[in-house]
Amino acid sequence: MIIAVDGPAASGKGTLGKRIAAHYGLNHLDTGLLYRAVARALLDQGKTLTDEAAAVTVARGLDFHNLDETRLRGAEAGEAASVISVYPGVREALLQGQREFAAQAPGAVLDGRDIGTVICPDADAKLFVTASPEERAKRRWLELQKTDPALAYDTVLADVRKRDERDTGRAAASLKMADNARLLDTTKLGIEAAFQAALGLIEAELAGKDLR
Ligand code: DC
Repeated sequence: MIIAVDGPAASGKGTLGKRIAAHYGLNHLDTGLLYRAVARALLDQGKTLTDEAAAVTVARGLDFHNLDETRLRGAEAGEAASVISVYPGVREALLQGQREFAAQAPGAVLDGRDIGTVICPDADAKLFVTASPEERAKRRWLELQKTDPALAYDTVLADVRKRDERDTGRAAASLKMADNARLLDTTKLGIEAAFQAALGLIEAELAGKDLR
């Protein structure tokens, strides 16, 4: 069984993806980490994010099983990931590995931007998780406040909007809801309520396909 979870930055799709995977006993891949790892490696090598050829080389050699999540979290890596993710060569280099991960038994939950549309168009269930930009910025701001108390909410909101624009506006595999995805708006939901709502949508989808 394959479940695709897509949505914009800070929509809660990562947390939901992890919990959905645990609930069904499936593998989980946060595909944003792949793009973050490519961007991080470029910066570590002293290359610029506009060096497309170098980004493609890094993406081709990326080890999916050796991603240092703690180093890849954070606003800087996310912003850098958004920049290199516009290159079609980078996306192409990461495509097969994602499909192979999804195909491994017993199945997987993949979360990202283009899982339901490009990576796993035949996924058994697809969710598109979203929330208003203001709510997503608030969540991220509260999170970042722990390490950066001086950070202004308006700065975070501007970052969220900029990232939305880039992720939605790029030509290759832009962020959009798959035709057959189910929409989950978490603006007014806490984590637990969002998780229950997600399970409800997935169960409805699976029941319709007679998979359960
Ligand atoms: O989900 P995230 O914030 O970790 O993702 C970081 C960036 O990576 C995001 O702004 C765009 C890119 N990305 C992508 O293009 N496709 C994906 N499937 C996942 C992430």
